[in-house]
Amino acid sequence: MISQTDQRSRESSGRILQVAEREIGRIILDIHDGPVQNIFAALSQLYITKRRLTQSMGDEATDELERISRSIFLLENSLNEIRMFMGTFRPPEFERRDLIAVLEGLVIQHEEITGKSVSLDVYGDLPEVGLSVKISLYRILQEALSNAARHGQARRHNVVIAAESDQLVMDVTDDGCGFDVETVLMGKHGVHIGLEGMRERVSVLGGRFEIKSTPGMGTQVRVMVPLQ
Ligand SMILES: Nc1ncnc2c1ncn2[C@@H]1O[C@H](COP(=O)(O)OP(=O)(O)OP(=O)(O)O)[C@@H](O)[C@H]1O
Ligand SMILES: [Mg+2]
Repeated sequence: MISQTDQRSRESSGRILQVAEREIGRIILDIHDGPVQNIFAALSQLYITKRRLTQSMGDEATDELERISRSIFLLENSLNEIRMFMGTFRPPEFERRDLIAVLEGLVIQHEEITGKSVSLDVYGDLPEVGLSVKISLYRILQEALSNAARHGQARRHNVVIAAESDQLVMDVTDDGCGFDVETVLMGKHGVHIGLEGMRERVSVLGGRFEIKSTPGMGTQVRVMVPLQ
């Protein structure tokens, strides 16, 4: 049984999370409409200049053509990176889609971007969950999968969602290289926002966050959030 104060505080954190997601959506749109269009325009100019130079001067313009090709390479790379960032961070339609649908979308996107295979298993009757739970689990799964691919070089990722009587459990495991959790959490290797962010999101929901990792054996992130 959760108190009225807890209920109010969860509702307000849900609204804050929703505003934050809208902000992310707006920032991504700004990046798309501004820098992405400018890079695209600059690239088009460079393609045209390169074609004209090749036609009019050929071998005489080798140095200029080399410089233009390098600039094209850099701009194309930047465009691809920005596009990947926009695709990864663009918030899904949290209000209209249920929890499993948004998590499935994320899993498919991760498989497409990384080429890794991700299994998603759901156990128990999943009740309708609030917006704050949906957004938090989505962002936590995104970070856990991204860490597994970036740091763990994992080949397989497994995601299990289980509805128990009074809580929802999400387990994300990978078969990557693992790491020494204590050393990382003590901050000896600089600031890491990802794991801290996961812990924060779970604590706002009144839930529990656990991470187990064994060097050479893989990592397991477990999140438990109460169901009202
Ligand atoms: N699944 C994993 N496999 C292997 N190492 C991991 C895994 N998850 C986390 N780590 C280790 O823990 C560190 C902290 O992770 P965290 O997500 O907090 O920060 P980060 O990924 O380095 O940076 P960011 O702030 O962009 O998330 C990583 O740098 C990495 O060394
Ligand atoms: Mg990270």
